[in-house]
Amino acid sequence: MRRPGASGGAPQSRVALKPKAAAFAQCLIRWQRLHGRRDLPWQNTRDPYRIWLSEVMLQQTQVATVIPYYQRFLERFADVRSLAGADLEEVLALWSGLGYYSRARNLQSAARQVVARGGFPDTREELELLRGVGRSTAAAIAVFAAGKREAILDGNVKRVLARHFAIEGFPGDAAVAQRLWLLAESLLPASGIESYTQALMDLGATVCTRSRPRCHDCPLKASCLALAENRIAALPGRRVRKPLPRKETAMPILLHGDRVLLVRRPETGIWGGLLCLPEFSDLAQALQLSPARYGCEIDSHRLLAPLAHGFTHYSLTIHAAVCRVRGVRPHAAESGAIWLPLASALKASIPAPVRTLLRGL
Ligand code: ADE
Repeated sequence: MRRPGASGGAPQSRVALKPKAAAFAQCLIRWQRLHGRRDLPWQNTRDPYRIWLSEVMLQQTQVATVIPYYQRFLERFADVRSLAGADLEEVLALWSGLGYYSRARNLQSAARQVVARGGFPDTREELELLRGVGRSTAAAIAVFAAGKREAILDGNVKRVLARHFAIEGFPGDAAVAQRLWLLAESLLPASGIESYTQALMDLGATVCTRSRPRCHDCPLKASCLALAENRIAALPGRRVRKPLPRKETAMPILLHGDRVLLVRRPETGIWGGLLCLPEFSDLAQALQLSPARYGCEIDSHRLLAPLAHGFTHYSLTIHAAVCRVRGVRPHAAESGAIWLPLASALKASIPAPVRTLLRGL
């Protein structure tokens, strides 16, 4: 079956399909006739310019938002030649509000590529050479403009396939995406590629939605593994965050009677402007350099258990040592260093892990 209302099209090659794949596609094609979207402004045409424009606009934007932009754009630039010859500022102005403006810049440069080669290509591979056209967009254009038997795999389709076939993992991971591409290709129907492709898009956008999917209305509910296993909410899998980089630092807690030495941190960087324990790259350095730097002698020291502290972009392990000092020469300390009674230090603006260390004394 052709894309509803479309005229013309390339002949379809017949391939032997596994029965399950054929049933999957037929179910979707039947559903598309009854429940799919058939009157969107970029349907009922084989004009590659109109189809390409719609697919680029729909890359990161929903149908309802795209429609008025699409219509205004076509009123101003009716064909690829007029777009290729346009002033970029005017293209950007028509795009204003759609977001992801690199799409508008790429669109115009792709229009120039098309004009330079004498027209739109009709194979997925050649369409992929146009600026801003990735594999799935190229496939959608090849399907809708030329009836080519190509697989699409945008975010909505990834979700439909990951759920229906219970594909584990985050679809943004290369290995998972590769599995999904192979699966998407294995499911293509021998005929009716336009209806099938539109059905996948429509199902993902209107039924198999990310939150609160309408599984009761799904034409594929009888064979959906995620539904059978009650795993709709868990699929597709989420991105597994990489462990944060780890950093280490050393902080001597220099104690003179009930006073502790704190230093004011620079205004910029972590803990900007707060009072903090002095910092060194390791404790050996801390014990070696502190006396001259802060005008005291270390009588004894005791190592504390390392303290972990999480920042958004890294985790910090603090190696601290309690150092009993004597012979303090207050004016010998570096500027910004002060000896504060412990009780006052705990009331001052100090970083949370420093508070933890001082409270533990
Ligand atoms: N999303 C991406 N391409 C689409 C299309 N042709 N119709 C509806 N939604 C889409």
